Amino acid sequence: MSERPTTLAIFGVTGDLARRKLIPALFSNFIKGRLPQPLHIVGVGRRDWTDETLIDHAQRSLKQYAAAIYEERAWQRFCRALSYSKVNLPLPETYRSLRDALQRLDGGAGNRLYYLSVAPEFYADVICNLGALDMAREAEGWRRIVIEKPFGYNLETAQSLNRSLHSVFAESQVYRIDHYLGKETAQNILFMRFANTIFEPVWNRSHISNVQVTVAETVDVGTRAGYYDRAGVMRDMAQNHMLQLLSLIAMEPPSAFDAVALRNEKVKVLQAVRAIKLADTVRGQYRGYRQADGVAPDSSTPTFAALKLFIDNWRWKDIPFYLRSGKALRQKTTQVNIQFKRPPNSIFELTERGDYSRNVLSICIQPDEGIHLSIKAKIPDQQIAKTVDLELHYANAFVADNLPDAYERLLLDAINGDAQLFIRSDEIESAWKIVDPVIAGWHEDRAAPPMQPYAPGSWGPAAADALLERDEHLWRLSCLHENGAG
Ligand code: BG6
Repeated sequence: MSERPTTLAIFGVTGDLARRKLIPALFSNFIKGRLPQPLHIVGVGRRDWTDETLIDHAQRSLKQYAAAIYEERAWQRFCRALSYSKVNLPLPETYRSLRDALQRLDGGAGNRLYYLSVAPEFYADVICNLGALDMAREAEGWRRIVIEKPFGYNLETAQSLNRSLHSVFAESQVYRIDHYLGKETAQNILFMRFANTIFEPVWNRSHISNVQVTVAETVDVGTRAGYYDRAGVMRDMAQNHMLQLLSLIAMEPPSAFDAVALRNEKVKVLQAVRAIKLADTVRGQYRGYRQADGVAPDSSTPTFAALKLFIDNWRWKDIPFYLRSGKALRQKTTQVNIQFKRPPNSIFELTERGDYSRNVLSICIQPDEGIHLSIKAKIPDQQIAKTVDLELHYANAFVADNLPDAYERLLLDAINGDAQLFIRSDEIESAWKIVDPVIAGWHEDRAAPPMQPYAPGSWGPAAADALLERDEHLWRLSCLHENGAG
């Protein structure tokens, strides 16, 4: 481990993300002995806090969100790393005291990670103010910046944010977070595809009929209307998490397991996505959304989307990828279902018809992480084939009652300079190029499919089912505790 001090400056330390995710993730890494030493964690915020307020806040966060791993002795060591620095984000002059505090901690010769967990409207200010005080320059020790989503509001704002970033930081210093990439099972997509030999030969248009990505949530807009009503499901889930999952599923094998090779392949997939036809989209809004606190009474923000898209390359040409995500749905589940083609000549009687007669490989991202492969097997004592599942559950295969939270991995990777699981500037922009025309079309094109209301607790509007029925498919769901859901 390096002896150069490492300092994490968490902007927005008083906020929700820091409390629920960042502080617990740091503590967990700390007790696993994975953080570099010496380590300083500087909470940066607007409030008039002291070091003691931050320490108290962090301890309460841990007791609330990481109770299972909280341990007094470790905490006593961990809390020594914590200090607080007050900064008014838009005001450059307030950064001097932060600069001086960091200088005192590491003598100017340390590694520094700036973590932006603040409202996106402050990103450009923070970047510019850090730049003005020369706080991004790498002389002795590295300087890195981690940026939370949303990265931009559309292509134009994302490009402008990239320009601000690049005027102060080199791309290699920038770590754009998509926490889905930190999920163990999302990472396992690559391991499954490229550490085995049995999947890759069938991973293409000759053998696969269609691919489905479902990211369903039971939560509704809750207290986040201020952000969500401006964003909607396309910006909140599709531009980032869903397209990231798609690129892991569809990418070509990278030549190495490193940030350059991996992200090169992911970006190629996004660039090959054919413009989505509005007729291949469904937008929905759950009933009651407009009555939620902070939502405009006539809001046209979609809380559900289903899309059909195509990837124009040799591997995937004309194979439909169906994506759907929504809030206030029946169950929380994120899963990818890969439906294979049917046998060219069917000689057996099957108990299931249509799509149910296909082999499906289900990658269960959450909850109950695992992989299911549905295969046909002979029913004993009968001449009929029935679907049975080969199942891998992380909880059984690994001692995994506590899979590490995505932020644990991501924070560690950023500290270690491994950018594999972070989004490069060209990836971000390619993803916006895919979703922007859909969002614009929904607003501006009279021929766009209308908003479909749906009942909270359902699987979304019927139009989302119709989108697949047109192609004689249906949404497949595996990995659920409840059956009969599609
Ligand atoms: C966030 C979105 O990025 O992801 C939220 O802003 C969403 O709206 C959340 O609820 C879902 O994350 P997870 O890890 O619970 O699936």
